[in-house]
Amino acid sequence: MSDHIEMTKTTPKDFLLATLGGLFAPGLAIFLIVMLVLGVQARMGTPDAAPAADKAVRERIQSFGVSVAVDPNAPRVERSGEVVYTEVCSGCHGSGALGAPRFKEKADWAKRIGSGYDTLLDHALKGFNKMPSRGGDPDLSDMEVARGIVHMANAAGANFQPTLKKEPEPSAADLARGKGVYADNCASCHDTGVTGAQKLNDVQAWKPLLKEGKAFLYNAAIHGSFGGPAKGGNEKLSDADAKVAVDYMVAEARAAATAKVPAKAAAK
Ligand code: HEC
Ligand code: HEC
Repeated sequence: MSDHIEMTKTTPKDFLLATLGGLFAPGLAIFLIVMLVLGVQARMGTPDAAPAADKAVRERIQSFGVSVAVDPNAPRVERSGEVVYTEVCSGCHGSGALGAPRFKEKADWAKRIGSGYDTLLDHALKGFNKMPSRGGDPDLSDMEVARGIVHMANAAGANFQPTLKKEPEPSAADLARGKGVYADNCASCHDTGVTGAQKLNDVQAWKPLLKEGKAFLYNAAIHGSFGGPAKGGNEKLSDADAKVAVDYMVAEARAAATAKVPAKAAAK
């Protein structure tokens, strides 16, 4: 009788083992489930699937431009039409994404080619409906955009040459008048860079502005821009005077750019 009682009594050792077992068993189960899930995931990501998925994602986001690490001091290399097309335009024009006319599809291009090279250049530089300005790559020069257009249009039957519209150069008299208007109305901010005004010798600040072209800058000077007051805050200034002031500013900014980066100016 006493034996029987001894057998059912739990010793401290039994108790310890039971407790550890109770903790360990669910832990082991969880561990095995986690390993199973990880194993399934690893098998789904077969060696080929990962790069393929990666490539698909890259292609999908390509229309927003390829980002590459660029050394800002490296000399800028002008790209050919084919390279511009491959790197920037093909994102949409290869597949017809967003309704873009497709490469080598004559039917897609015929009417557009008919509207003339100047219209296409204008649309590609400024943007046109869902076609983003410069194909979404603000770093493309006007000439690179022109070459990209010609590459696509000529592949669809056109016979264009990449050229740029020349902005009429201001006369020496205009520049002299502009210098005076500038000194009286604009220098207070644009000589010092106060409140973020672009200083005339700030090559980096003027680079994107020069790319916008005179029409954009005239408009900003006459009607004001973010932070830049209309006509420099002088309501009495005529549009013509505001324009010659811009002509003078652009001439100075170009001269500064030429002085600082002779190689780049020579390439233009
Ligand atoms: C994000 C997509 C996208 C990219 C990238 C893109 N385009 Fe387009 N492009 C379009 C779409 C969409 C249209 C059609 C717009 C319309 O007709 O409404 C178009 C139309 C055009 C046209 C015809 C304009 C006209 O007047 O009919 C030209 C020229 C053009 N693109 C040039 C380019 C060049 C050059 C590049 C590369 C530097 C480029 N595109 C990159 C979407 C794109
Ligand atoms: C009170 C200060 C001030 C005066 C005076 C002034 N500007 Fe500006 N201007 C600015 C600022 C600030 C900006 C930068 C706006 C920005 O960041 O886009 C600017 C920008 C510009 C731009 C570039 C447009 C752009 O989008 O950035 C032009 C062109 C310009 N000004 C022309 C003129 C001319 C011409 C005059 C004289 C008639 C003048 N400004 C007088 C403050 C001034």
